[in-house]
Amino acid sequence: MATLSASGLCKAFGGVHALKDVSVNVSSGEIVGLIGPNGAGKTTLVNIVSGLLVPDVGEIYLNDTSLSGMEPFQIARLGVARTFQNIRLYRSLTVAENLGVSYISSQQHRRPSEENSCAAILTRLGLESVADRIAGTLPYGHQRRVEIGRALALDPDFLLLDEPAAGANAVETQALVEMVGEIREIDGCGVLVIDHDLRFIMTACDRIYVLGDGSLLAEGTPQQIQVNEEVIRVYLGGSDKTS
Ligand SMILES: Nc1ncnc2c1ncn2[C@@H]1O[C@H](COP(=O)(O)OP(=O)(O)O)[C@@H](O)[C@H]1O
Ligand SMILES: [Mg+2]
Repeated sequence: MATLSASGLCKAFGGVHALKDVSVNVSSGEIVGLIGPNGAGKTTLVNIVSGLLVPDVGEIYLNDTSLSGMEPFQIARLGVARTFQNIRLYRSLTVAENLGVSYISSQQHRRPSEENSCAAILTRLGLESVADRIAGTLPYGHQRRVEIGRALALDPDFLLLDEPAAGANAVETQALVEMVGEIREIDGCGVLVIDHDLRFIMTACDRIYVLGDGSLLAEGTPQQIQVNEEVIRVYLGGSDKTS
């Protein structure tokens, strides 16, 4: 079993302390949620784990291997893939070509199974009918799925999803819960998922971390998080606060 762990992460942008001594870990086959109000530091954490940002303090490990100082492409080759909050597809390539770019890399650096071939991923994500469409012309929901498909085509051991349910309706969100469960079953991936949709997070995740203002407020099962007084005060509030 593999473990991806971040320990003691601190990151400041000028005077803004986006992360203050935050530690999280995800193991193979685990679906872990990361929630917190806007500006809590969630995307910064994923940016650090995927190598886009360098922490001021703290370490990232994939099992016993330190990822510190590695470039994003090196971290991806080691099996840590991600999606972006602001979708970043190759907009002028087709859906199949978007996946193909990742698949070429995984063939060179990983050992992709049959389930991670482009054709299999297109089928798994319900993208077959749009395989030859230009990615940038697709509806938002499809583009989000293409992002997930492109990450899966890297044959990851760990998948970091930054707000995959943003803009999704209830039916699409339920489909996403099933898709994430399937990724765990088929690929054995560990998944770290950020989202504001608490139904999604509470249904899909085994364990949840709660960030508030750059600090880790709580960690626990969905049942524990829903009754955690600090979390209710800072995040869930008395109302249906979802952003
Ligand atoms: N590149 C950056 N430059 C300056 N400030 C940033 C940058 N990225 C994030 N921040 C700030 O860091 C804090 C955490 O941001 P972010 O990680 O995007 O939060 P979240 O994803 O939880 O909404 C916010 O106050 C944000 O404005
Ligand atoms: Mg964010």
